[in-house]
Amino acid sequence: MNYQKILEEIAAETSVLKNTGKVATYIPELGKVEPSKFGIHLKCTEGKSYAVGDSNEHFSIQSISKVFSLALCLKHKGNHVWQRIGVEPSGDPFNSLVQLEYEKGIPRNPFINAGALVIADILLSELKNPKKDFLDFVRNIAEDQSIEYDAKVAASEMEYKYRNAALTHLMKDFGNINHDVDTVLDFYFHQCSIAMNCKQLSQAFTIFLNYGKYDLSKEASVLNPVVAKRINALMLTCGFYDESGEFAFRIGLPGKSGVGGGIVAIHPRHYSVAVWSPPLNNKGNSELGMRALELLTTKTEQSVF
Ligand code: DON
Repeated sequence: MNYQKILEEIAAETSVLKNTGKVATYIPELGKVEPSKFGIHLKCTEGKSYAVGDSNEHFSIQSISKVFSLALCLKHKGNHVWQRIGVEPSGDPFNSLVQLEYEKGIPRNPFINAGALVIADILLSELKNPKKDFLDFVRNIAEDQSIEYDAKVAASEMEYKYRNAALTHLMKDFGNINHDVDTVLDFYFHQCSIAMNCKQLSQAFTIFLNYGKYDLSKEASVLNPVVAKRINALMLTCGFYDESGEFAFRIGLPGKSGVGGGIVAIHPRHYSVAVWSPPLNNKGNSELGMRALELLTTKTEQSVF
């Protein structure tokens, strides 16, 4: 498969599309990004990489970090995690409060904000130095020790924390949060603030390829095959909130988006791919990013379906 040629075609075809998306501004620091940025990096299971555009430029990974926190949490806590979080799509926006009240503080899945906040609460109990240990995990799986938190983004999220604070308070009232609310928020905002580029993200997501056994030499980061299978299933069914059905319908790969405009998707036996274009559609997913991935699975005639 000539992936490089295909990525170049995708960059050319998406560059002439009218982008009706909007850069996220509810976290003011994210609103400073240049909307025309666009990059893709694709890493194949046999090790080769292909890239176009701004694929080496760092951006805020935001909710893509929820996949890393879930993976780390499952490594530590195993199936106990599922006593406090469900595995069903929510069909609601990522930051919705509505379901949580009906469902007594148990989030539908680990990728909506409420679910990721419970995962953050569990990791605060499990990790000795939560911020350091989380960053080390991401650095190790991305094979890049230069990856950092973005303190300005984390502070901007804390300043406008109201909705995430409401979710955390509500869950604490139901007994599903053990730590102090601001401690959970501080850890969660830091994980979301991590700055990475498409190359680092596609490398990090190789841990979900080949049933968690992409690279047997990297023993520390290899996932249990059952965990890899389950995380892929959750990415497919819940990775795009109330647009997860649309993503499966148009693209046909497990993946995860973030409000920084990044999307990472994997074809479990072929590749991991990260795309970045900051303007978001009205569901909070990168408009051109989704279009680019749709072109990828259409042109390659490869998807999980
Ligand atoms: O908590 C928030 O709202 C952000 N830190 C993350 C949201 C996000 O990325 C949703 N993704 N599409």
